[in-house]
Amino acid sequence: MMQKKRILIDCDPGIDDVLALMFALASPELEIAGITTVCGNVPAALGAENALRILKRAGRLDIPVYVGEEKPLRREYVSAQDTHGMDGLGETFMEPVQEIRPREGAVDFLLETLWAEAGQPEGAERAPLSVLALGPMTNLARALEKDPEAFAFADRVVSMGGSFRSHGNCSPTAEYNYWCDPDAAAFCYQRLGELGKPIHMVGLDVTRKIVLTPNVLEYMKQLDGELGGFIQQITRFYFDFHWKQEGVIGCVINDPLAAAYLADETLCGGFDAYTAIETEGICLGQSVVDSMDFWKKKPNSRVLTQVDPLRFMTMFVTRLFPAAGTEEQVRRVLEQILVPEGGRA
Ligand code: RIB
Ligand code: CA
Repeated sequence: MMQKKRILIDCDPGIDDVLALMFALASPELEIAGITTVCGNVPAALGAENALRILKRAGRLDIPVYVGEEKPLRREYVSAQDTHGMDGLGETFMEPVQEIRPREGAVDFLLETLWAEAGQPEGAERAPLSVLALGPMTNLARALEKDPEAFAFADRVVSMGGSFRSHGNCSPTAEYNYWCDPDAAAFCYQRLGELGKPIHMVGLDVTRKIVLTPNVLEYMKQLDGELGGFIQQITRFYFDFHWKQEGVIGCVINDPLAAAYLADETLCGGFDAYTAIETEGICLGQSVVDSMDFWKKKPNSRVLTQVDPLRFMTMFVTRLFPAAGTEEQVRRVLEQILVPEGGRA
């Protein structure tokens, strides 16, 4: 029996955020209660416009979009438009949505939506509400500062961010979301830990294994020329960046894995540990995972370290491309085209 989950998506769309939104919209067990955007890949206001563009494509402008924090708690804001394009959509410069405007007040929306769970009668049929953070954690930190008790009503807090043993993607040790606002990430891990709400860290250890390759793109275009073509259009810029930056043919799509993990937690394996985020110096933004329990502190995170890329990509293609048929049919095709782990050129 599939368990429905309502989710608040806090994101910075951003190419892989867009793919995560498309995955969530196509996943029967996920019901998006609202989208908040944060300064990250692109400024929060632009991220909100991009979220509306994707919701319009899906005919889901009923889902509310709120603009959040425009700068990190302390650091200067550094976007990732070098990776995602100035428009955040691989410089496809999609038509803006005219019908509806993003709303202001992402932090209050997060808190109000969480508090609305408090009024639910015990054992109500209502699906649990979770927070899926796909960008820097600035909005969540502001919400925790303002009203931490609201998070008692979050079923799960899942964050795409950090790294346990994989190298960083914007410094030798730091992953972008936690590097962009290390103070927010540090505060969220510390404060949610105190509230007994461990963060499920979907970090680079697992997301680096999720690579959208030219062959998978070709398969998508064969299944649905318009949708496959759209995904190719918005990821082209990202492909170029990956080749120049990391010698990868294809692009690592981090955020959709975090969304898929929230839909089905058996997708990733890992362990519970105490995690702290470095906020100063050359390792600023590094997620320091106490996997050997040196500090004897109560675990405040579930660190995901294992994933089956074939299982994820099968889920992703089957949900976005109904023409693909069953998961078994999709798996049979992907088995021929997915590069075995570590076997990348
Ligand atoms: O480091 C990857 C993460 O940073 C992804 O969420 C990407 O969208 C950016 O936000
Ligand atoms: Ca993101």
